[in-house]
Amino acid sequence: MTTEVTILNHDGIAVLFVDNPPVNALGASVRAGLRDGMRKILASAEYKAVVLACAGRTFISGADIREFDREMAGVGINEINSLFEKSEKPVVAAIHGVAFGGGLEVAMGCHFRIGAKDAQYGQPEVKLGLIPGGGGTQRLPRAIGPVRAVEMIISGDPIRSGEALELGLIDEIFEGDPVAAGVAFARKALAEKRALVPLRDNTSKLAAAPADHALFKDVAAKAIGRKRGLEAPMACAEAVSWCFDVPFDEAIKREWELFVKLKAGAESKALRHIFFAERAGSKIPGVAPDTKPRKVSSVAVLGAGTMGGGIAMSFANAGIPVRLIEVGQEALERGLGVIRKNYESAAARGGITSETADKRFGLIEGAVGIESSAEADLVIEAVFETMAVKKEVFSKLDAVVKPGAILATNTSFLDVDAIAATTSRPQDVIGMHFFSPANIMKLCEIVRGDKTSPDVLATVVSLAKSIGKTPVVVGVCHGFVGNRMLLPRIQQASRMLLEGALPQQVDAVATKFGMMGPLAMGDLAGLDIGWRSRKDSGLTSPIEDALCERGRFGQKTGAGYYRYENGSRSPIPDPEVDALIVETSRELNITRRTFDDGEIHQRLIYPLINEGARILEEGIASRASDIDLVWLHGYGWPARTGGPMFLADQIGLTEIRNALYAIAEADKDELLRPAPVLERLAESGGTFASFK
Ligand code: NAI
Repeated sequence: MTTEVTILNHDGIAVLFVDNPPVNALGASVRAGLRDGMRKILASAEYKAVVLACAGRTFISGADIREFDREMAGVGINEINSLFEKSEKPVVAAIHGVAFGGGLEVAMGCHFRIGAKDAQYGQPEVKLGLIPGGGGTQRLPRAIGPVRAVEMIISGDPIRSGEALELGLIDEIFEGDPVAAGVAFARKALAEKRALVPLRDNTSKLAAAPADHALFKDVAAKAIGRKRGLEAPMACAEAVSWCFDVPFDEAIKREWELFVKLKAGAESKALRHIFFAERAGSKIPGVAPDTKPRKVSSVAVLGAGTMGGGIAMSFANAGIPVRLIEVGQEALERGLGVIRKNYESAAARGGITSETADKRFGLIEGAVGIESSAEADLVIEAVFETMAVKKEVFSKLDAVVKPGAILATNTSFLDVDAIAATTSRPQDVIGMHFFSPANIMKLCEIVRGDKTSPDVLATVVSLAKSIGKTPVVVGVCHGFVGNRMLLPRIQQASRMLLEGALPQQVDAVATKFGMMGPLAMGDLAGLDIGWRSRKDSGLTSPIEDALCERGRFGQKTGAGYYRYENGSRSPIPDPEVDALIVETSRELNITRRTFDDGEIHQRLIYPLINEGARILEEGIASRASDIDLVWLHGYGWPARTGGPMFLADQIGLTEIRNALYAIAEADKDELLRPAPVLERLAESGGTFASFK
């Protein structure tokens, strides 16, 4: 026995009791304890039945994911389950909280399962690039039928007790203490002399299935389609399909082999990296974990434009009332109109009911004049992006908003410290940089000013989480983490056009990698924004200036780097643009050359990683994994590569450094030379992940 697993004797019923805080993860020691405990119980005449139950807030919540980075040793789930299944004493799993992954697999080895009213059940392995490896792909289809099982295993999404009972995954729903409920159920099973048929031998739901084979394939294909470009969902479908025609023991053997293969693969490593990155992201250096957040029960958003509207929707969607404030009635009505339309079309598409849409819209109250923010606990400013306007707005906020309120800015690029300095309370000022469309994109860069107080940071981070965002704390610099790294990518795309590539070629390389192309993205955002700001500061960008001079601002004018048919957002290559690019190169005496896809890929990605390295060294991001989160949740970076900094570590920093030297040399651009920290890490064989 191990310290995490004990046997409690409830008058002849053995409770195999797991106590491995915080979430009863199924680590090696717990697995050993379960096996040894079960052997003891089976050998003792004292016990007539067994209950598997857990201490604390949940049943076994899943594997200990840290083990996945090593060779997995010790007792396996299959060994434990075969003891449960061979037992002549009834074995009952009493589930409260969650039974995910290995937790559900162990429960499915038991003869009976009962669940607390609000318990959840799932096989989320696919989210880590894996298939269930402890029999889940074979027992779940036997429990609930192959069609629903393949859907659950590919999506990775859990079900609740009501559905689990209906599907036959559990036998009963209980209220109160799992141990007491489990013991009571075990006594009932004994009294009723219930037959002990392990799921492995229960093929009743499979017997009906061959007729459903076409449906199975159809459901699996649709579920895979929702997870485009990933390997694990296909592996899940394949493994579950063995339930039709591969004997149980052979299928279990193949399942384990496939699990081990995926575990060692790049996709699973990247997805596991993201899993840990998200957990690490909540730890903010310099803010004690027990810092008491401020109370936020009323929120005001200033500016009902593109971003203000989306931000207000994010709060309303989470059930938090919000006041949306504009300078005048007309602008307010326009902003509210856009929000109403968004909700109406979400309801029309069936994403939410029209009652939900009405309820959410009802939580947004429009108001005119900055004074309406006086009583808010949090004000988020989303007005025009110029320093003069921001300063004016913040000094007004300082005058009207109650003391102790948090004043946040949604600025994309501007200096949050300079904005804070216009108030008498810089400790209460912070950046909350949402991404467009703000009601959908998960990223929120939390910009920590020089003087931002720890409790303001803690409050805003937890509030961002409560509205379903992924907060990443960053420091003050031009463009923060995401937009600052985006710049070299856009510059490189534009330079490659001048040197010989065409928009469709550059974007195709990015799309193949799994992201929207930088030029199509430019068309979406609008090329005129950069053009106007270049004109103000006397800068040029030859191709983009030429496009804008011809009125090609992007999607909004039906033409940019591409042309767009009426109302469509699909970019169509335009020979007129190709000619304009070739002509611009000629005017600048640039001899055009051919680019291969590999070079384009490197030039889109390596300079961006280089900027990430500088950001890391300057302490603008606290860890490389935070930079990855920014790109994954704010810019659609493909999850299967784990984010730019993780990808760089996988490629090897020496290779990145050498390629950057070549790019800098070709471009005659000092800024493209490897950042000092990249040089040092490449020299010492280090990684961004290990950079402290
Ligand atoms: P927008 O032009 O769509 O909206 C700005 C709104 O603010 C306008 O409706 C305007 O009437 C209102 N406004 C101006 N002064 C005001 C005042 N004193 N009080 C109340 N309302 C006022 O601009 P957008 O795109 O929503 O941008 C807003 C902020 O969000 C900017 O700082 C921008 O850099 C930032 N941002 C924009 C993103 C985007 O993709 N558009 C992404 C992330 C941040």
